[in-house]
Amino acid sequence: MTEFRSSIATIQDSEFEYLKDLIYKKTGIFLAPHKKIMVQSRLNVRLRVHNLNSFEEYVQRLKSSASFLETEITDLINRITTNKTDFFRENHHFEFLKDTFFPYMEEESKKTGNKKIRIWCSASSTGEEPYSIAITALEFFGGKPGWNIKIIASDIDTNVIQLAKTGIYKFDRLDVVSENMKQKYFTKSVKDNVIYYEAKPNIKSLIEYKKINLLEKPYPLGEKMDLIFCRNVIIYFDKPTQKQLFSNFEEVLCPFGYLIIGHSETMFGISDKYKFLGHTIYQKKV
Ligand SMILES: C[S@@+](CC[C@H](N)C(=O)[O-])C[C@H]1O[C@@H](n2cnc3c(N)ncnc32)[C@H](O)[C@@H]1O
Repeated sequence: MTEFRSSIATIQDSEFEYLKDLIYKKTGIFLAPHKKIMVQSRLNVRLRVHNLNSFEEYVQRLKSSASFLETEITDLINRITTNKTDFFRENHHFEFLKDTFFPYMEEESKKTGNKKIRIWCSASSTGEEPYSIAITALEFFGGKPGWNIKIIASDIDTNVIQLAKTGIYKFDRLDVVSENMKQKYFTKSVKDNVIYYEAKPNIKSLIEYKKINLLEKPYPLGEKMDLIFCRNVIIYFDKPTQKQLFSNFEEVLCPFGYLIIGHSETMFGISDKYKFLGHTIYQKKV
């Protein structure tokens, strides 16, 4: 008979210190001491998966076996990341796309003939953000011929990338999306009496998903980006990591390319390579 452990394992300071350092080294996520209980509760499931009784055993295996560390690290990271997101979260950024960025690209195209737009959604979580960008792009460019628009959506967490790729969301996730937009961009279905919406090919086809760790350069993007979304992820990083990241972004942005960060984030005192346009929107200086 299988025996189930009902109690949860508790984490000691030294085990937390080891895991904190490992996570920081692999992801840039900085875990302050008050995150100890969060780490304990999120990682208990990893102990159960490996049939281990204590964090001492888990840490010991991570330390002593390079092959265990290599296979475990993805699931460990997937348990630690915080993936909160929403459709049209911080809507002023989508207003910016509609009112400023897309019209700017359209005006430029009249001078240069270039109708290519590349947007990198660099911490895309379960996909609500890249789909919101794709919807905004189609609302603006739909029916205008010749445009080649691609959104690269990436995250370090492989579980959320899988969910994002399916493009399937429970009905209440789309509460902020108008009925008209739901009809244009989603297919409705019902399973076990629950309504789901699946992104239609018109928006799915604009998005390419990749696993990218923001800490690992060079980024596998293949070309320069016109705009980068990097929202609500640098809050988990310390200042030196943020500084490095903004410098990395500068290298992959086109001249005058845009960078959008989250509402509680700032570049103030971290990088002077970007011009602040307001509403946590920045433009690379040339
Ligand atoms: C709170 S979510 C933000 C999602 C979305 N950008 C938004 O604002 O709604 C943060 C995301 O950053 C990802 N993340 C954390 N560290 C990362 C890293 N080093 N490289 C890439 N993504 C990372 C997490 O997996 C998570 O999905």
